[in-house]
Amino acid sequence: MTIEICIGSSCYVKGSDKVVLLVKEILVKRGLDAKVELKGSFCMNACTQGIGVKINGKMIRLLDLDLAEKQLNFAIDEAMA
Ligand code: FES
Repeated sequence: MTIEICIGSSCYVKGSDKVVLLVKEILVKRGLDAKVELKGSFCMNACTQGIGVKINGKMIRLLDLDLAEKQLNFAIDEAMA
């Protein structure tokens, strides 16, 4: 599985650095850290729609950092199904 997190300026300002840490934490918690390639990405052309994250190429948009853990776990489950 590949997870890309946008580190473009708009997403960075919205907290993509926190998303990087959160994703790392989730992967460790779920024992997936060795199985997932985590990458930074330039702008995903979704700047107005939250922080851009792609899981196996599928775009998800994190609008609320408080809900990000739930949203990321759901998207990871979906990618593994
Ligand atoms: S800067 Fe992240 S989608 Fe544009």
